[in-house]
Amino acid sequence: MVFQKCYACHSVEPGEVEGLQGPNLRGVVGRPMAAQEGFDYSQAMRRFAERQGAWTGELLERSVAAPEQLVPGTEMSAMPILDAAERADLIAYLQASR
Ligand code: HEC
Repeated sequence: MVFQKCYACHSVEPGEVEGLQGPNLRGVVGRPMAAQEGFDYSQAMRRFAERQGAWTGELLERSVAAPEQLVPGTEMSAMPILDAAERADLIAYLQASR
């Protein structure tokens, strides 16, 4: 499961945010960016959200392929996922979590 690369910092369980470094990712595809209530997003992420609006499958794919390139200055320090098939699986998994 590719989501194990995200699991240390993110959950897809409804409402689970305690003790996690990143926002909850349940239903993130189609969701407004940087919109989790109470989560302290970086300036970089907020600015990106103002320009882009909501997460699409395509933007998510680019984000996991190269987080720092899509959102320069983001506080998300995750390893890029270089394998295209793994990225596709991951986006499908996130899409199914709603
Ligand atoms: C080391 C911890 C860490 C890992 C690992 C990690 N993230 Fe993140 N993620 C973060 C942080 C912190 C933020 C908030 C970034 C900011 O505000 O700049 C974030 C933000 C996000 C967002 C934006 C959410 C929103 O509400 O707009 C998405 C989408 C995301 N991560 C997806 C992933 C995926 C998919 C993976 C696995 C490939 C992953 N992350 C791995 C820490 C992490």
